[in-house]
Amino acid sequence: MANPSILILAGDGIGPEVMSEVKKIISWFGDNRGLHFDLSEDLVGGCAYDAHGTPLHDDTMAKAQEVDAVLLGAVGGPKYDALDFSLKPERGLLRLRKEMDLFSNLRPAQCFDALADFSSLKKDIVAGLDIMIVRELTSGVYFGEPRGIHTEGNERVGINTQRYTESEIARVARSAFELARKRGNKVCSMEKANVMESGILWRDVVTEIHAKEYPDVELSHMYADNGAMQLVRNPKQFDVIVTDNLFGDLLSDAAAMLTGSLGMLPSASLGAPMANGRPKALYEPVHGSAPDIAGQGKANPIACILSFAMALRYSFDLGTEADQLEAAVEKVLADGLRTGDLMGPDGGTPVSTSEMGDAIIAALAA
Ligand code: NAI
Ligand code: MG
Repeated sequence: MANPSILILAGDGIGPEVMSEVKKIISWFGDNRGLHFDLSEDLVGGCAYDAHGTPLHDDTMAKAQEVDAVLLGAVGGPKYDALDFSLKPERGLLRLRKEMDLFSNLRPAQCFDALADFSSLKKDIVAGLDIMIVRELTSGVYFGEPRGIHTEGNERVGINTQRYTESEIARVARSAFELARKRGNKVCSMEKANVMESGILWRDVVTEIHAKEYPDVELSHMYADNGAMQLVRNPKQFDVIVTDNLFGDLLSDAAAMLTGSLGMLPSASLGAPMANGRPKALYEPVHGSAPDIAGQGKANPIACILSFAMALRYSFDLGTEADQLEAAVEKVLADGLRTGDLMGPDGGTPVSTSEMGDAIIAALAA
């Protein structure tokens, strides 16, 4: 069988810096574990604009549709702020998400014990936390019609519509159940079926898909407002949470902050299964191109490295290797290694991007 294929789009600012640590890790897996990937690299964002006058060339888009996974760094920077909206670096990323039809957005909230002090919650509530929020990304109130602002009598009225079809709910539910099988085998679905018809349909469809296709996974339902409370009160009760676009936007941001720095947060966006059974997939850190520290070797590569760990687990069925990579990250943090963004008030000496990457590889090898 052919090696699995990965397209690397490092992008702008710190994107190439953090991605070069991932490339070292990919080489390490090849040299030491016989895990070989067919790698290709291309441009996205401002660097693509500089080269081609567009933030995503059609050829790059076509490649992204063919590979097993896309790994993206970050896009954007002050140099491109004055560009026309359609040429902005972010448009390259949006085009990838839209044309690959990535409807399932995965945002983990994972707390490494060594960083539990960074959380706004008490250490014992977050230490060891490992949950996954699956947010529906391509439908719901951000897209529903009718929408707009109009005048009625002598005042303005703003309208947005929450709209979900059965198939839109079913596909994101399947995505959540599939993930749960690779994790703690539990899904909690969140909506507001008490006050919204779209929520009633959401609950019905999730229940049906579960009964027919995933009876082995433990399913519960929760109203999303209670879910927000439970996330803060006792987040460790959850494994996978699946919810709509709007609730997922709020709940995933709140959950992410249970665990501290932006430089630590990975994400994935998945689409429909391809002919080989793997989902279309884009993996990227949550952070942006960090122009304030770009080019200085100060960026924390962990968010990008954990995004690659997600690729191992969710695109390549390499859960053991993903666990090992996450354990290596845990080990270097426990040893006290910190990039600048992870320094506490008492200071210390931060390590560079590449020192952090090298230490993670050394921990993998140990
Ligand atoms: P940002 O995430 O780039 O930076 C926010 C702050 O966090 C900065 O102080 C930065 O130095 C720090 N930071 C971010 N990632 C870090 C890392 N890995 N290690 C250490 N420190 C890190 O967000 P900002 O400043 O709002 O946006 C900067 C540029 O990035 C803009 O052009 C924006 O449009 C773009 N952007 C791109 C995203 C993407 O590619 N997905 C997401 C968010 C912003
Ligand atoms: Mg948000």
